[in-house]
Amino acid sequence: MGKRDFLTLQDYSEEEIWELLESTKLFKESSSPEIFAENLRNRSVALLFQKPSTRTRVSFEVAVNQLGGHAVYLGWSESQLGRGETVADTARVLSRYVDCVVARVYRQSDLEELAKHATIPVINALSDLYHPCQILADLYTVWEKRGVLKGLKLAYVGDGNNVCNSLLIGCSKMGVNISVACPSGYEPYSKAVEYARENSGKTGSTVEIVRSPEKAVEKADVIYTDTFVSMGDEAEREERLKTFLPTYQVTSALFKHASEDALFMHCLPAHRNEEVTDEVMDGPHSVVWDQAENRLHTAKAVLSELLS
Ligand code: CP
Ligand code: NVA
Repeated sequence: MGKRDFLTLQDYSEEEIWELLESTKLFKESSSPEIFAENLRNRSVALLFQKPSTRTRVSFEVAVNQLGGHAVYLGWSESQLGRGETVADTARVLSRYVDCVVARVYRQSDLEELAKHATIPVINALSDLYHPCQILADLYTVWEKRGVLKGLKLAYVGDGNNVCNSLLIGCSKMGVNISVACPSGYEPYSKAVEYARENSGKTGSTVEIVRSPEKAVEKADVIYTDTFVSMGDEAEREERLKTFLPTYQVTSALFKHASEDALFMHCLPAHRNEEVTDEVMDGPHSVVWDQAENRLHTAKAVLSELLS
């Protein structure tokens, strides 16, 4: 059988995503982690990063180690990629040394090029368009906290960025209703919205893009936000803050429109008191630290699935 990549959740069926969530639960809750300690024995994984990272880098590195494998970190600009070696040639060479590449890049097209020329699985560790590893951990977190996914409502408030695109896909695949509130000009990627509408037709969930945060969060079970200034958008920082603030900030007042026990989620890093107030981040609705922890457990599920 050919290799399988993990570039976007759109490539995975609802059943396959459930299998990854079930496997995450086993990794997280097992009282005998030694039974997994050989899953990646004699396997090496390259972590190729073109942008900074705390959670993704550390969770993958620790996941590989806890599964008995070996992780090699490679910064894009410290490698020959930084001096112009092509992505395709890099893919060919890495395929001769390691068993998997976890890559964080600016352009999804570079990731696709990497996957095309690699003979080993490539995992998307965040691109301009998608963040599937994050959304797998998010779905797990919601399932862990609520016991179900189907029929819940997630409201995403803010920039229609990579995280928002993957939430649209992940939620619609799993039957979670999703409502996105964003300013004009900051809508999610049209193709992701198209996929979400297509998926929701199958699962019977709803997909909505609106302007008003109050409308999006109405009766929501989860309020989710992310930075207004993603990596690569730094030059637009001032203009973006002017557009998003104060309307799109997640505050305690906004929570009053949601379900009483609504969860607050954020992929992190948070830009405190920009997209979310300290009061919400540190308040009783917030599950952001469990959400961050779950990156480790889902990383094990994805690695084990692709490398088994
Ligand atoms: N959420 C997330 O991907 O965080 P890092 O940028 O720290 O990896
Ligand atoms: N949207 C953010 C996510 C960081 C994990 C970014 O791309 O910078």
